[in-house]
Amino acid sequence: MHHFNYQHGELYCEEVPLRRIAEETGTPAYIYSSATLTRHYQAFDHSFADIPHLTCFSVKALSNLAILRLFSRLGSGFDIVSGGELYRVEQAGGDFQKVVYSGVSKTEPELEYALSKGILFFNVESEGELELLNQVAGRLGKKTPVALRINPDIDPQTHAHISTGLKVNKFGIELGQAKSLFRDWKKYPHLELCGVDCHIGSQLLRMEPIVEALSFLVKLVGELRGMGLEIKYLDLGGGLGITYNSEHPPLPGEYAAEISEMAKASGCKLILEPGRVIAGNAGVLLLQVSFLKENSLKRFIIADGGMNDLIRPALYGSYHEVWPVTQKPDQPGSLADLVGPICESADFLARDRVFPELKRGELLAVMSAGAYGFVMASNYNGQPLPAEVLVSGRDFHVIREREKYSDLTRLEKIPEFLDGK
Ligand code: LLP
Repeated sequence: MHHFNYQHGELYCEEVPLRRIAEETGTPAYIYSSATLTRHYQAFDHSFADIPHLTCFSVKALSNLAILRLFSRLGSGFDIVSGGELYRVEQAGGDFQKVVYSGVSKTEPELEYALSKGILFFNVESEGELELLNQVAGRLGKKTPVALRINPDIDPQTHAHISTGLKVNKFGIELGQAKSLFRDWKKYPHLELCGVDCHIGSQLLRMEPIVEALSFLVKLVGELRGMGLEIKYLDLGGGLGITYNSEHPPLPGEYAAEISEMAKASGCKLILEPGRVIAGNAGVLLLQVSFLKENSLKRFIIADGGMNDLIRPALYGSYHEVWPVTQKPDQPGSLADLVGPICESADFLARDRVFPELKRGELLAVMSAGAYGFVMASNYNGQPLPAEVLVSGRDFHVIREREKYSDLTRLEKIPEFLDGK
């Protein structure tokens, strides 16, 4: 359920017509609904109310400071994968004691930064990282909590690009290797083993692989306890899918019902790292039609935003619904591609989709763009990043200004030998 609905034939976000936002901030713009973000976070988190758990919103999905502040105020922790994301959490006033840090290529400065802030734990993804973290912690005179991210070799049945728990994927440590690291834990005097972790993939639509991953971790926790190791946290990652088109993912309540008992029985605190399920349907990309063009084969709707703003269709062939901001109830429509300004044929947001008649200047909302939308946007083709807007009831707030041309070149320098300064 989200708060983007038609009222009197106009598309609204909560109580604000999208047309009004477009008039004030221009397009392209990402529009997020704070009521939807709140509702999704609470629906997810409350589903686990009966068991010890911590929901850590996955910063990579949507990382604007205002949004992180909103989640922080709701009590959320954060799943991060870089020093930059930790910096965002810090700027948003997030609680470091609720931060878990995954990622296969953490650098020494990143480890130092996270160590100095005292995060809840690191999800370590290789033996090399374990050694480096031990060294850095020793140098800083700290003992830090660590979980190992295990690669369980489970097929999550999702798009290959967002599948992360198979041996062909770079993520985590395979079981046999992890076990020998656990056995030799004394080699890491500055690391306190506190948990096990896995994240098998994203946009998961079936419970079986998730339950399989959980039972895999629970079994491992049992074995580790048998070896005298204390395991406090069981981190199941994120991954729960959403409806973009006609998918029927498990609802958060169903997801929780299927895993709660097993997680509780493990005696561990369950850590969850949802991103998409909370943010995906809480945001849209608002565009304006620049031109309409037809050839003998195809009809193109050309908009002022494209793969530079939302790369998911180009990168994964993802489906996003497109709603006209002014409703067109009785029009049969015809097939068209919605394309953007980028000089690539991969620059499409929708392909062979039925669109109503549209005119230059009309507004379109690309739906379900709240997760992995703005965060993956780029300046390709000299396009400034779009504005981000947060709606709250009758009000809306620009939470990131549209970039200006001067932002495009802000960090660039012409060296002296080219007569620069
Ligand atoms: N935890 C870890 C360690 C992750 O790698 C991810 C996502 C999450 C949590 C959050 O997963 P979620 O609940 O959002 O599925 N750009 C792709 C998605 C990449 C996901 C990467 N990892 C897309 O647009 O579909």
